[in-house]
Amino acid sequence: MIRSVVCGIGSALPKRVVSNEELRQLVDTSDAWIQQRTGIRQRYIADKQETTASLGEAAARDALEHAGLTPDDIDLVVVATSTPDNTFPATAVNIQNRLGMSHGFGFDMQAVCSGFVYAITTADNYIRAGRARRVLVIGAETFSRLLDWTDRTTCVLFGDGAGAVILQAAEDGDDEERGIIAASLRSDGSHCHKLYVDGGVSTTGDIGHLRMEGREVFKHAVGMITDVIEAAFDEAGITADQLGWLVPHQANRRIIEGSAKKLGIPMEKVVVTVDQHANTSAASIPLALATAVKDGRIKRGQTVMLEAMGGGFTWGAVLLRW
Ligand code: ACO
Repeated sequence: MIRSVVCGIGSALPKRVVSNEELRQLVDTSDAWIQQRTGIRQRYIADKQETTASLGEAAARDALEHAGLTPDDIDLVVVATSTPDNTFPATAVNIQNRLGMSHGFGFDMQAVCSGFVYAITTADNYIRAGRARRVLVIGAETFSRLLDWTDRTTCVLFGDGAGAVILQAAEDGDDEERGIIAASLRSDGSHCHKLYVDGGVSTTGDIGHLRMEGREVFKHAVGMITDVIEAAFDEAGITADQLGWLVPHQANRRIIEGSAKKLGIPMEKVVVTVDQHANTSAASIPLALATAVKDGRIKRGQTVMLEAMGGGFTWGAVLLRW
């Protein structure tokens, strides 16, 4: 049977760091409130030249270098984003062009904060079906462009950035049984008005702003996240105590801690970067993964659970052996 093995990882952040203290110049907030409610200390905010595609390209180049590959080796590009450079063409083909790729194919996926989990599951399916051999999976966002900078309940929570992984096909017996082991995806559109953007091409004709019922999101988050993680554990036939690392979507430290506690996973096994990056939506998991791989925490052969929940609501988990 064909499996998908991660053979490269990369990340990219905008140059500008914005502290909680700096946000006090825009809205009535405080470093203490933001840290206590979310765990966020700072976020990276893109300037005009930095876009979702440029950040995605930089993360892709970093992942290619890490894998020792070139764009010629890639046959599919999947980009998870809710903040594309243009309504069309897809950010994936924009990045393809930036990388000098005119072969293969590419498309975007939109599942908001769960986008990376959806994208890596989709890429895995292409590889298992034999329709792609090496897939560049990118999560890239410029959520700062969607924020209402006068709304203190949302503007303090998000940041910009990009992360990328390269999946490649491995046959049974290759690569020490590394690769994607299980996945569980869910969505429930009855929650679509709890976290959304109040604009769009087909409605207002402008891009709109992010709106959120924060408490409603919080109320559902831990239950939804733990359900899909348990489904992935069941599919793989392993238990939480056998897990090497949990790499959650980085929205809020309290949601991360609540989920880990419910699953019986100690915080020493959880990768947390929300303090540094804030919520970068579809980019948050690959950014956190890249951090923990590059600093040596995640080691070859360890099991890693990725999970996310976001607007829609969408939610999902992917279990892999690194
Ligand atoms: N600074 C200071 N005070 C604030 C701020 C702020 N930035 N934002 C809100 N407040 C005030 C409110 O106005 C309110 O004041 P009031 O009591 O005088 O009316 C008070 O703080 C409490 O507000 P709540 O909304 O009840 O605060 P809560 O404890 O629920 O925390 C938060 C808000 C952090 C948004 C929380 O609900 C949360 O984390 N929700 C999850 C949302 C999330 O993570 N979304 C990300 C996208 S989805 C995802 O990625 C999972």
